[in-house]
Amino acid sequence: MISSTQTSHLDSIGSFLAMEIFSRAQQLEAQGREIIHLEFGEPDFSPPPEAAEAARKSIENSPAGYTHTQGIEQLRVEITKKYSEDYGIRIDPEQVLVSNGSSLLLFLSVRLLAKPGSEVILTDPSFACYENTIRVAGAEPVLIKLHKEEGFQLNLDELRKKVTPKTSAILINSPTNPTGVVFTPDVMKGLAELEIPVISDEIYADLSYEAPPYSFLSFSDNTIAIHGFSKYYAMTGWRLGYMITPIEWMSAAARLHQNLMISANDFVQQAGIAVLQKSGSYCESMKNEFNKRRKYVLNRLSELGMDPGYTPTGAFYVLYKYRDSSKSSLNLCMDVLEKTGVAIAPGRDFGLGAEGYVRISYSNSMENIERALIKMAESGLL
Ligand SMILES: Cc1ncc(COP(=O)(O)O)c(C=O)c1O
Repeated sequence: MISSTQTSHLDSIGSFLAMEIFSRAQQLEAQGREIIHLEFGEPDFSPPPEAAEAARKSIENSPAGYTHTQGIEQLRVEITKKYSEDYGIRIDPEQVLVSNGSSLLLFLSVRLLAKPGSEVILTDPSFACYENTIRVAGAEPVLIKLHKEEGFQLNLDELRKKVTPKTSAILINSPTNPTGVVFTPDVMKGLAELEIPVISDEIYADLSYEAPPYSFLSFSDNTIAIHGFSKYYAMTGWRLGYMITPIEWMSAAARLHQNLMISANDFVQQAGIAVLQKSGSYCESMKNEFNKRRKYVLNRLSELGMDPGYTPTGAFYVLYKYRDSSKSSLNLCMDVLEKTGVAIAPGRDFGLGAEGYVRISYSNSMENIERALIKMAESGLL
């Protein structure tokens, strides 16, 4: 007999609550309700036009076979140029591995550094998949809380207390999803001094609005840096990401990737090459628009009596603490959706530390953001 007990070892792996909000939003849309979507971490812009042009050419002119498991050489060279020009770091194309999106690479990097049963330190809150990914990779997640009163900065004293002989890696993400906070260089220096391998999710690195973007590689090479094309390049559905590891770790990383994925899509990698070569000003203009929205959202929230109590300076998120702490963030977001037609993400998606919060993503037009903020303020729910 076929039974779900067969898969019960995965029962603790939760789904994304923002998806539940999205599903309900879709039902309401099917009934004719207008919904403003602020629940997802997905740019509302079109990808750079060079991406489609390069992918089309590649499909027409070549058979789209497997590529080198680490990715097409030219793409890896372009990535090394980006790291050199944008972050001032010299890396070798042999240190780069390209895959279909960075999510798989998060799993791969934990699997690479963390022996089964060892501990990986991560922040609470953090991106929804981190805790699950660490568990699936056979390691134990150890959480350090980020506090609103400290501007959601990484607290090194708290971190040091969590380090044990079983600690195998620290997973960080700056600018951070869901807070939009950029960790300060001083904190990064302190983190590097611990001499514990760091997995640095740099997918939002280029969306830093008040300080130059950086990679954790400029603080330590005891690092796996993970980056991708989903956010700054607005290419979520293209599924293109990459990791940079010390050369000593690449053999194992490449063997793992070969077994799990063989290689990333050929023509999508060609799109990546074109975008890195030609789409700089297109991407900067999206970034400028995000920054305008960020400033607008922060001003407007404060005018509407909903000040978030800290200043996000990166990514495209604001984490907001609502008043009725007795209500779960999922129920609150459902109520906000039903009453106002605005979809936002429950804080619980990002860890227990963000229960009592909602994440507002400003990846929507200024006009929709304005309408959404007014509706939310008038609802009295937040
Ligand atoms: C912090 C963070 N890392 C990784 C990802 C996933 O990126 P990709 O589309 O490259 O898998 C996301 C997506 O929201 C994210 O917020």
